[in-house]
Amino acid sequence: MTKKKLIAGNWKMNGNLAANDALVRALVAGMKDAACTVAVCVPAPYLAQVQALRAGSALELGAQDVSPHEQGAYTGEVSAAMLKEFGVRYAIVGHSERRQYHGENDALVADKAKVALAAGITPIVCVGETLAEREAGKTEEVVKRQMAAVIHTNGHCISEIVVAYEPVWAIGTGRTATPEQAQQVHALLRAQLKAATEHVDRIHILYGGSMNAGNAASLLAQPDIDGGLIGGASLKAPDFLQIIGAAR
Ligand code: PGA
Repeated sequence: MTKKKLIAGNWKMNGNLAANDALVRALVAGMKDAACTVAVCVPAPYLAQVQALRAGSALELGAQDVSPHEQGAYTGEVSAAMLKEFGVRYAIVGHSERRQYHGENDALVADKAKVALAAGITPIVCVGETLAEREAGKTEEVVKRQMAAVIHTNGHCISEIVVAYEPVWAIGTGRTATPEQAQQVHALLRAQLKAATEHVDRIHILYGGSMNAGNAASLLAQPDIDGGLIGGASLKAPDFLQIIGAAR
């Protein structure tokens, strides 16, 4: 049986109370016959707002990060238990913007995935190569290294994660990986995960990086692309709804 696709929006550091209200209302109204699971990963201050707006709908709530610590003297951090209190089902971990601007390494990302899982939150683990790494022929080596750290730390729980392949050169650039390029990496990630768990079929591997209303269908048609992690296009209800419609 093929599993339902997962379409997750990553709002990044965008939004305000009024805009969120309009966006979430439009999504809830427009996704009534969605064939896929839909989530929005919102900035932490808006979790309560979006939790209230989504009430009674199928829209799932996600966070964009989580602290690797349980609680205590970690100024500025938000724990998995706190996220859980607001009905958070997913947390993005290891997004390339956090690896790049906040110095997150593979081990930290693996720890974040672990604390999320322990709290009953599904981590959306992001992996992906930079343009320089792709041009140097290192794509496979980089994504496998990033994935291996998460597998190593999480053992048999690995079947409970979501993976997002996000080539760094495609994020926010309007330059998407071709369906073939994406499929190639998804297939090797699937093989790597298969060696780590007998439940590999449960794992969604999402594509992210300039996915939009125009290219979503061809990416989602690939055998190993189980959904999308969408930045820019998730901020516009008509675009995001079109992507949701393409995920069947
Ligand atoms: P983008 O971002 O869709 O704006 O390229 C995707 C992401 O960074 O998750």
